[in-house]
Amino acid sequence: MHNLIPIEEDLFYVGGSDRKLSLFENVYPVPRGMAYNSYLLIDEKTVLFNTVDSSVFDEFFESVKFALKGRTLDYLVVQHMEPDHSASLLRLLEQYPLATVVMSQKAEMMIKNFFSFEPKNILLVKEGDLLKTGKRRIRFLAAPMVHWPEVMLCFEESERVLFSADAFGTFGALNHLFAEQRPFEELLPEARRYYFNIVGKYGIQVQNVLKKAAALEIKTVCPLHGPVWRENFKAFFEKYDLWSKYLPEKRGVVLFYGTIYGHTKQAAEFLSSELVAKGVDCELFDVSKTELSELLSEAFLYPHAVFLSATYNNGIFLKMEQLLTDLSEHFYQKRSYSLVECGSWSPQAGELMEKRLSEMKGMKKVGETITILSSMKEQDEEALKALAKEIIKDIHEIS
Ligand code: FEO
Repeated sequence: MHNLIPIEEDLFYVGGSDRKLSLFENVYPVPRGMAYNSYLLIDEKTVLFNTVDSSVFDEFFESVKFALKGRTLDYLVVQHMEPDHSASLLRLLEQYPLATVVMSQKAEMMIKNFFSFEPKNILLVKEGDLLKTGKRRIRFLAAPMVHWPEVMLCFEESERVLFSADAFGTFGALNHLFAEQRPFEELLPEARRYYFNIVGKYGIQVQNVLKKAAALEIKTVCPLHGPVWRENFKAFFEKYDLWSKYLPEKRGVVLFYGTIYGHTKQAAEFLSSELVAKGVDCELFDVSKTELSELLSEAFLYPHAVFLSATYNNGIFLKMEQLLTDLSEHFYQKRSYSLVECGSWSPQAGELMEKRLSEMKGMKKVGETITILSSMKEQDEEALKALAKEIIKDIHEIS
């Protein structure tokens, strides 16, 4: 059964949502499923922007066939070769073997590597090239590493539609195609988690794309995941600008603790209570409880972070170690941080965490590392109160 949704008179949504999927990329939990977007333009020439993940091929193909109304497919634009968009490429071309595949040179190489196949008709495009399809004009903009090297954005100039590939995507299946059908604040958490986990490593490359996008008078944004943006895009664009500069969105402190028997948790809660009592906005996360992609997204929200870890196997508590690795791999930077370690005979987590965090760009340590031996005592409370004061001082200094 087709699932065709008009966006404009001659532009249709033909993608699909996998609502059974548990882990996107076999890593990221997607409790609300995942959307794989594809768009079909019916002009003098017909143009399909991308295929879809194999899980939604059948409904996608039904929609394409229905929208074409017996016409052939003239162009298949391949913006991104990652299999969540291109796994169905061969199956689609089996149905439309004469379609010209429009792509970057790097995408052509990837088609050969993924499929050991070469399409019959190929049009290689690069930055600034133009494809006229009748009334519509598609301009190609290179977007390397957003999120793979072959990625091209497409800007349809007559109706000012940006096909943004992975940029401006979100996690989640689509219940409403258009972003304005939901409150922006409701869309934001999954858009943020998607950004930091999927694209966030490539802040410089995203900045380059934003500069190109800022020069266009965009009316509609059609990403490869999540809703289509027609209103409120300025607010989303501003978030992307902030995120890709690795700047925090909120004032406040996020505390991450890794605890075995609860003593590190006590320290985290004591420090958090001290900060909250002084009017500081705080979020507290048990790194064993909250899933990693969520922790990453929360870390980037705040200018201040406190990492509290039990010493485990003479090192950092495993889940905290994983968080620090993930932060490092996603270029966590420009933040103030404080440290608390716990241990019974040889506390080492503090020193090891400091090594990891101090290697990240533009990081500033606030206060001395607090060491708690086995369990919280009066002197530990005093030390945590003093740390709270140092953190509040730093909040005022950077505001
Ligand atoms: Fe949605 Fe990078 O693929």
